[in-house]
Amino acid sequence: MAELTNISLSRGAPSLDIIAVDELAAAAQRALERDPGGMLAYGTSAGYPRLLEWLSNKHGVAPEQLLATNGSMQADAFLFQELVGPGDVVVVEAPTYDRTLLSLTKLGAEILAIPLEADGIDVGALEAALEEGARPKLAHIIPNFQNPAGCTLSLEKREKLLGLARAYGFTLFEDDPYVELRFEGQQHPRMLELDGDAGSVVYASSFSKTVAPGIRVGYLVGPTDLIASLRKRATETYISPNMVAQAIVAEFCDSGAVDRSVATVKEALRERRDATCGALDRHLPDARYVTPEGGYFLWVDLPEGTDVAALAAGAAERGVVFEKGTGFMIEGGESSLRLAYSAVPPDQIEEGVARIAEAYRELHAPARA
Ligand SMILES: Cc1ncc(COP(=O)(O)O)c(C=O)c1O
Repeated sequence: MAELTNISLSRGAPSLDIIAVDELAAAAQRALERDPGGMLAYGTSAGYPRLLEWLSNKHGVAPEQLLATNGSMQADAFLFQELVGPGDVVVVEAPTYDRTLLSLTKLGAEILAIPLEADGIDVGALEAALEEGARPKLAHIIPNFQNPAGCTLSLEKREKLLGLARAYGFTLFEDDPYVELRFEGQQHPRMLELDGDAGSVVYASSFSKTVAPGIRVGYLVGPTDLIASLRKRATETYISPNMVAQAIVAEFCDSGAVDRSVATVKEALRERRDATCGALDRHLPDARYVTPEGGYFLWVDLPEGTDVAALAAGAAERGVVFEKGTGFMIEGGESSLRLAYSAVPPDQIEEGVARIAEAYRELHAPARA
């Protein structure tokens, strides 16, 4: 039998063919020539000054409101360590990013999981929980092309969430690594922008999904006093983040290469999204999903009772991997899965989904005597 090509619909990372390798090499060369002293010194925990300046212009915030970190995962970790202690209630979307659940659980947080709808978190359910006495410290929200579900939070819900955060005194953590990757439809303002100077929002984003994950550059925007505490925490953790990586990203951004990179990634991902939806419709008509308007992921609900753990095993036998829904939820998700189309060319997506569908049919085939 011919060997099967392995197809991974598992990881939310871009494939190498859509990473701007040559432009990154050129940016690295220019960055080193321009500022060898700054780039190769420790620097400060705030981040590489030229990158902070670019971010400050992009978001219209003071440099003191910024912390550039080794990936936004590090930014999340600093923020959670600062704000969340054992027993603190933290609102998350259900489903949500698996690493967020892990970090919060490790800190002893009490997770208040609120269902996600096609237009973002169910704010009505959140409001009801608050009215019933829930007092969260923090709400973690992935507003655009959510990981894992691909959904986007509507403008109305953004405004409503801000109102709830102000009324009940919790911090809204807007975790937004996918925002630049919209294929179609209207971009909504960030909650950070809608919040003005009220200080209810801490915003995180990353260059992992638009430039390359291996560069490990992400950042936080927040109120100055909170950022000052986080900078102290960062100094105590690693003195300073990776200045070499941040200087390369700063040069990549300042030179405009980042815009070309975003355009390339977006175009490829739109094709991959279309291939995924088309293949699901053709091969797995039982699949229910919300078509993502951007980003890396699509969430599939299969009919209740479908054993997605068994489906994953059947798919793995056929050389295809994906993430089971249960990893993204405290409870439930047994008949759901996440497909990451970010790293796979369209023809392989078609083949991968066809193999998943074959495994699905096998699950439902009558047992042989
Ligand atoms: C919602 C969300 N937040 C944070 C991250 C971490 O990204 P980074 O590579 O910047 O650490 C990811 C990565 O998948 C993510 O999906």
